[in-house]
Amino acid sequence: MKFLITAGPTREAIDPVRYLSNRSSGRMGYALAGAAKHDGHEVLLISGPTSLDVPPDVDFIQVESAQQMYDAVQDMIKGVDVSILCAAVADYRPVAVAQQKIKKDGESAARMTLELERTPDILGSMRDVFGFEGKLVGFAAETNSVIGFARAKLLRKKCDFIVANDVSRSDIGFDSRENEVMLVYPEHVVKLEKESKERIAMQIVQHVTILKQ
Ligand code: CTP
Repeated sequence: MKFLITAGPTREAIDPVRYLSNRSSGRMGYALAGAAKHDGHEVLLISGPTSLDVPPDVDFIQVESAQQMYDAVQDMIKGVDVSILCAAVADYRPVAVAQQKIKKDGESAARMTLELERTPDILGSMRDVFGFEGKLVGFAAETNSVIGFARAKLLRKKCDFIVANDVSRSDIGFDSRENEVMLVYPEHVVKLEKESKERIAMQIVQHVTILKQ
């Protein structure tokens, strides 16, 4: 099968030297790309900036902003069988990007206000805008009501299952090498015990390949 995987954070420019971003390391998405490749699938990894090596024989597109990631997914979605959207896409970006470095003089010396707008929702566009009909997996980071919020996201974004992370815990998730997740399906939940992101990735790939179309 052909897999498309998004990974890493995105960066939303404020001016030529500054940006908004988040703590995603990209490890979970890169582990998914490696696991799918290891299982013999064709893999395209679309990633925001990370310090990781691209797994061998994985096709790779480097992006920076949410808009670039959206455009790359839309361009590459044709012929894809499985999409796993793991990227921690910035939800907001500055409305205007300053063309010159913002100086801390004049009115903005003591405080400044950044006006933000929503970035495009890639996962939410997969079915209705891109017309994707393959298997679709999203991620959800929650601090409370993990299963309830994940299931709402599953239905809203028409996914086959959601990989739900409890980000209220500091020992797993974002910056860590390990993860413990729940696979939230419409009718049931599968808990994957705490393990390395590589082993979690292998299990997610197993679950996605046995999904009925
Ligand atoms: N996602 C995306 N494009 C965005 C934002 C998120 O594709 N602009 C994807 C992520 O890759 C992930 C899922 O959507 O698969 C996360 O959904 P989101 O609604 O952003 O969830 P949270 O980050 O948990 O935020 P919230 O609970 O505030 O909705």
